[in-house]
Amino acid sequence: MALQIIVGAQWGDEGKGRMVDWLASQSDYVARFNGGDNAGHTVTIGSRIYKLHLLPSGIIHANTIAMLGNGMVINPRSLLEEMELLRAAEITITPQRLHISHAAHLITPAHQALDKALDAARGKDNLGTTGRGIGPAYTDKASRSGLRMGDMLASNFMDLLRSHFEKANHILSQYKAPPLDIDPLLAVFKTQCEVLADYIWDVSAELHQALADGKNVLAEGAQGTLLDIDHGSYPFVTSSATTAPGVLTGLGLGLDAAQNARVMGVAKAFQTRVGSGPFPTELAGELAGRLRGTGSNPWDEFGTTTGRPRRVGWLDGVLLKYAARINGLTELVITKLDILSGFETLLICTAYRIGGKILTDLPFGQADLGSVEPVYVELPGWQADLGSIRRWEDLPLQAKDYIRKVNDLAGVRVRYASVGPERQQIVEVPALGI
Ligand code: IMP
Repeated sequence: MALQIIVGAQWGDEGKGRMVDWLASQSDYVARFNGGDNAGHTVTIGSRIYKLHLLPSGIIHANTIAMLGNGMVINPRSLLEEMELLRAAEITITPQRLHISHAAHLITPAHQALDKALDAARGKDNLGTTGRGIGPAYTDKASRSGLRMGDMLASNFMDLLRSHFEKANHILSQYKAPPLDIDPLLAVFKTQCEVLADYIWDVSAELHQALADGKNVLAEGAQGTLLDIDHGSYPFVTSSATTAPGVLTGLGLGLDAAQNARVMGVAKAFQTRVGSGPFPTELAGELAGRLRGTGSNPWDEFGTTTGRPRRVGWLDGVLLKYAARINGLTELVITKLDILSGFETLLICTAYRIGGKILTDLPFGQADLGSVEPVYVELPGWQADLGSIRRWEDLPLQAKDYIRKVNDLAGVRVRYASVGPERQQIVEVPALGI
């Protein structure tokens, strides 16, 4: 059995795509288990940049079969667009290599309209969702009124869909949002059903068999630990299980699949967040601008899905320790170490101060994450450009000390550090001890 899991250890956008891309080259199956097209995974290969929202990034490798698990919510329009985009880049997308769980839920234009109307109605307390219909689709799932991929094969699907749109129009009218024009939407869905019918499989059974046959399965997380519906900074979270245990429910695997699983957490060398919610180490002004970039580079800190500038801040060791625990991380990857070049000093949050107390764990159950004051350790920066470095020995002393500190604070081995967006811009970190 060989299950490998990649999850975000922060608030999403940690650079998981590049690690997935790398591990996918040795995998038979690549699977998404949560979320929908709210995710944005960028993979750079040579001069080509692939921005994927729904399909697992590992699909770019011809050796893989891609799976969309039951834990996902799928907008057929986005899915079909993405399939076409990849076909245009000469990547084979056929029912033989893309399998969608019959139990994944559908996102419709009604969910998107409701997402926007509901978040706007929250006013200044809005969550800043991606507007992709994620929350309302999972709401329908939990209230047992959702539509699933498998329903697309049913003879009464158009009736189910009509009733879904009628209900949505009723709610939209309460929010003074314009109603959806139902008949044209039904026509579009009819065509989508015809195309997607051949891609619907029992993903759970297939993955179970694959693991029993000793195949390599890579589960690709979307968003990050602090956006998890249960373990994140609720209510400023997404609506799915973004953490490693979600792989089992989101793909229909049993606990046996998790034994000896490799669980890789990916974290940026600093921190970002899109949307609202607490962010203890957030920076403003010139420092923030330096970390964010101007938007002129593809790796600058602007959302892949929404284009919004990301909030940025210093690395938070308390959050990393939490992510290691909640996910059961077996290793950590630190991305974008190169972006920290040129700073005189660098700060890492080691604890929180609340009132007179110092906490080295998240204050959940005691206080709001928004009310903590970060306690920092100050480390010397380095000036060298790291982009061409491939060996640990060649990193500046200060960069090595930075990684050492992260290793200690997270309490999990930092295994790799990336020094640029290209596939090969990565440095293997020796075991530093915990
Ligand atoms: P939703 O997932 O669209 O409902 O958005 C809920 C929160 O999660 C918002 O703060 C979003 O900005 C954030 N979010 C959703 N997907 C991602 C992602 O892929 N990266 C980073 N933040 C995300």
